Amino acid sequence: MEKHSGITKETLLTVKEKLKDGVLPQWVLADRDMFELELKNVFGHTWQFLAHESELKEPGSFVTRWIANDPVLVTKTKTGKIKAFLNSCTHRGTLLCTADSGKQKSFTCPFHGWTYNNEGCLVGIAVGNKVYGEEMNKEDWNLRPIPKVDSYQGMIFGNLDKDAESLDESLGNLKWYLDIMLGRSDGGMEVQGSPQRYVVEANWKVTAENFESDPYHVQYTHKSSKEMGIAPNDPFFPGHGYQVVLDNGHGINLVALDETGISPFPYQGMPESMWPMFEKNLTKEQLGILKDSFFVGGVYPNLGFLQFSFPPLEGEPQLYNFLNFRLWRPLAPDKVEVWSWHLIDKAAPKEYKEKSYFAFLSTFGPSGMLEQDDAEIWSRVSQASNGLMAQDKELSYNSFLNYLMGLDRVQPDEDFPGPGVAYPLCFLDTLSRSMHKRWIDLLLQEKPVQKEVR
Ligand code: FES
Ligand SMILES: [Fe+2]
Repeated sequence: MEKHSGITKETLLTVKEKLKDGVLPQWVLADRDMFELELKNVFGHTWQFLAHESELKEPGSFVTRWIANDPVLVTKTKTGKIKAFLNSCTHRGTLLCTADSGKQKSFTCPFHGWTYNNEGCLVGIAVGNKVYGEEMNKEDWNLRPIPKVDSYQGMIFGNLDKDAESLDESLGNLKWYLDIMLGRSDGGMEVQGSPQRYVVEANWKVTAENFESDPYHVQYTHKSSKEMGIAPNDPFFPGHGYQVVLDNGHGINLVALDETGISPFPYQGMPESMWPMFEKNLTKEQLGILKDSFFVGGVYPNLGFLQFSFPPLEGEPQLYNFLNFRLWRPLAPDKVEVWSWHLIDKAAPKEYKEKSYFAFLSTFGPSGMLEQDDAEIWSRVSQASNGLMAQDKELSYNSFLNYLMGLDRVQPDEDFPGPGVAYPLCFLDTLSRSMHKRWIDLLLQEKPVQKEVR
């Protein structure tokens, strides 16, 4: 039976027009047809983060991941190559590997016992000769590779679209900022522990946007941290700094440390012994940014990052820095699986790494004080977006979300030393508008765009 979809090209064009005016219809946060269109047009064509290379240390290492609904097996072969396959047996399709991570040369399917090596080749069929004969060509039944896999600064991405632009092109001018976070130290970064996973009843656009482009919420959603004296007691915290709009919907907020009351800690509180290394690996401009700002931003569509410092123990004057990358995996219009990695410089002192992990856990771990504040609010957006009024597509009610902050009021700073369009303020909706512009452009892509009836 054909299923009627309310998402026509016309509707999408109307949404695009509304976005130019700085508003977004609320129904896009809870609509099932919209969600399915996003799965195809956004998640089927963009580069999706799979793993950091430090999670696949030795030949034979593997991790299992997801690109939206596609299970992915990422392996390191005996020659040290990273490969990624659909984690589905080519015999009858069951999930092949169910472990989160490990090290092994081959994967045997739990259903009928077909075995694949970590190059994705089918190397064993239970009683194969007896049941399929000699003529069955095993190569025809190798694991299906993820069409595109590439990495940047240790971050491994996959893309389900074989015709997609390269990762390099897709990351564009965001690379300059990623280099500050991922390339500042000798040996790069490493993941500590396993990625934490938890499900939040929220729409993926809300989580991505809230984390990556909305420092405005911090002063109120996270008010308790101010009341406890942990965060600066300034209603404008963290509005000071730059919001930088980058290629393809990517972006970053550089929250100025000198305006936040955290100024006694240059380089975000990282050990002084590491500073010469930063000076060696970064340009003068990048160094200036690392020294004076916290970072929060995103790789469009659903990979957020936060570089932040926090005291891990009560009363300890020292701040401990951490880099958190997090993926918002869409499960339903109102459900997202958060995948959250703690990264630290490989070259950091051991004790510092441990304390950094505690600083991360106490703030942005699943029960961290800042994470819980956010998760509650994200769910409330879904709760308030499901009803008839919020879901009205006639756009006749006032069911719009407001992205007007800074619209035509704040001009870019032409003298900003980094790439991108840098606005001298973090309390802005400029980056949110840019993210949603990329979103609507992807939805409007001609190739897989939905027609009225499908
Ligand atoms: S489904 Fe894997 S061996 Fe049959
Ligand atoms: Fe938050």
